[in-house]
Amino acid sequence: MRRRTKVALIAVGTSAVVAGAAFVRGRFEGRGTEKALPDEDAVFTAFAPGGPQALWSTGPVGWLTSRIMPIAEAGVYRTVADMLDLRPDDTLLDIGCGPGGFAAAKAQHVGRVVGLDTSPLMLRAAERRLADRIAAGTAELVLGNAAELPFGDSTFSAATAIYAPASAAEVFRVLRPGGRFVAADPDPRTPKDNAPSSYGRRRWGEADYRSMFEDAGFSDLMIRLGRGGLFARCRKPTAPNPSTAFDPDSQQEPSGSAEIV
Ligand SMILES: C[S@@+](CC[C@H](N)C(=O)[O-])C[C@H]1O[C@@H](n2cnc3c(N)ncnc32)[C@H](O)[C@@H]1O
Repeated sequence: MRRRTKVALIAVGTSAVVAGAAFVRGRFEGRGTEKALPDEDAVFTAFAPGGPQALWSTGPVGWLTSRIMPIAEAGVYRTVADMLDLRPDDTLLDIGCGPGGFAAAKAQHVGRVVGLDTSPLMLRAAERRLADRIAAGTAELVLGNAAELPFGDSTFSAATAIYAPASAAEVFRVLRPGGRFVAADPDPRTPKDNAPSSYGRRRWGEADYRSMFEDAGFSDLMIRLGRGGLFARCRKPTAPNPSTAFDPDSQQEPSGSAEIV
């Protein structure tokens, strides 16, 4: 066997073993009631460079992940695209875009795509995948954290967070009225598997997603559970909800039901 082939095989084999060991450790060690639950905000730093789960998005394991993820997640991208129903006039924000697999596979027809990630390695992989669109000025990659999106209010018409953390309040802020958001969670809490934590993060179920999105102001919530985990879709209302809006000029509290005139 040629020397270069041998070296490549050893590198891939070593990465696979490290990734496998990390997966098993994350899956079982951080799981269960015996561990203190992580802080809600810890998820925003856990996978970022320097965080306890940074292994997945940096170094050789990150490199391997950036190659495998777009292939392994093809079915997940399909479900997200179905739920989001992307159109040519959309401006899409992909939070935690990783190596750009979703944008490359499912958003080629979308007017403008912005990918955000905390990992420079993942952004470099996304840059290669979206090179043509970046050159054409219809795609942009941004180094930043989902906890505080570095964009103005009402910038996007659609957003995704596929197997990546997102702040519902921040997504609501950067979406235009009528904008859609789909989040995909690979490891939700379900009635069958109710362990509260894994991968150093709190696990969320359907009820958690419902209250998180409703508290942020979203409406039209739809949740799908199945292969690939939990998929949650919601929409930023186009007009303030008449049952909750308070008009300071009229000095009247909301009545609880809309009046039809
Ligand atoms: C499992 S990967 C998913 C990547 C991509 N969404 C996909 O499905 O192909 C999670 C990605 O989220 C990124 N990430 C983790 N924490 C983040 C944060 N707080 N802000 C932005 N990106 C984050 C990681 O660097 C990684 O690229």
